[in-house]
Amino acid sequence: MDERVYNFSAGPAVLPVPVLEQIRDEMLCLPGAGASILEISHRGGPFTEIIQSAEANLRKLLDISDDYAVLFLQGGSRLQFSMIPINLLGEGQSADYILTGSWGKKALQEAQKEGKTRVAFTAKDSGFDHVPAEGDLDLDPNAAYCHYTCNETIEGVQFAGEPDTGDVPLICDASSDFLHRKLDVSRYGMIYACAQKNAGPSGVTVVIMRKDLAERSGDNLPSYLSYKNHVQEESLGNTPPTFGIYVVDLVAKWLLNEIGGLDKMFDRNKAKALKLYDVIDAHTDVYKGHAQPHSRSVMNVTFNLPSDELTSRFLSEAKKHKLDALKGHRSVGGIRASIYNAMPIEGVDALASFMTDFAKSC
Ligand SMILES: Cc1ncc(COP(=O)(O)O)c(C=O)c1O
Repeated sequence: MDERVYNFSAGPAVLPVPVLEQIRDEMLCLPGAGASILEISHRGGPFTEIIQSAEANLRKLLDISDDYAVLFLQGGSRLQFSMIPINLLGEGQSADYILTGSWGKKALQEAQKEGKTRVAFTAKDSGFDHVPAEGDLDLDPNAAYCHYTCNETIEGVQFAGEPDTGDVPLICDASSDFLHRKLDVSRYGMIYACAQKNAGPSGVTVVIMRKDLAERSGDNLPSYLSYKNHVQEESLGNTPPTFGIYVVDLVAKWLLNEIGGLDKMFDRNKAKALKLYDVIDAHTDVYKGHAQPHSRSVMNVTFNLPSDELTSRFLSEAKKHKLDALKGHRSVGGIRASIYNAMPIEGVDALASFMTDFAKSC
């Protein structure tokens, strides 16, 4: 394939074209560095500027105060599933988990290996098709923290706002909707996101953490597993994922300077998602949305067709229209259209029109 398609991959995923162009233009020689981003030291001036700029731009986008550290780590969100309990779940304490999909479940399974946990809510019985309504949460007021997944990438289920956990620190896996809208960071103990969906390439995970929570890390932890260590070392305790951090900075600049901030981005994202959900709702004989309407994700639109044969036909015909990577996650099947920040409206229009034509042909 030598032509760009509309790439609906759930991650690694579409990146803004101006960002890709800048990477290409700077690949042989990063301005001021005399070498490429892949070749320079993480201790030198040019990279120091990049990591500081990435942090400053994320702080600007999300209004992150000095009470919070911004870290750039490796190991993906999966490592966070373990680091969170290893650092924050003290002896004799318990942690609450809100389960609205497969990733929350995996986070819980990792935490269970490290300490005591409780399930404060699960939508498992309905196939993870909704988020809790007010009053559905069974919270432990003494929990060490409460973990939730604001957007479940596989099921396409998303919270519209954060659950209220009172004084219990709220920890959010924002891997698949990070930077899709503005958040009130002060309501969180910690927000983390692997970058490869909405913020950059694979290889870097952004962690935004209240500094007092990082102080909970035990002194005998392996240093890479200690949040306290990463905060003290400002993400430079070992060689950080330099290329990923560079791209996160370019994406943050794109959001600030070309999109005009996260409120504008959210307006665009809502408009894109609505186009697809409108088609699903107009053709309920062919498309069955997975998420209940009030829990629908604006990032991952998931739906099923009446048979495997129709699903295969949908996928192969879509590909002919340059609509790629629409296959649902192997654990749930069906179709998933991931329409992250960088998916242009034209891509969504093309998919919506294909879906309408396909439904009529059934
Ligand atoms: C919501 C969510 N959490 C966690 C992960 C795991 O991320 P990683 O593969 O970077 O460990 C993913 C990846 O798809 C995800 O979508």
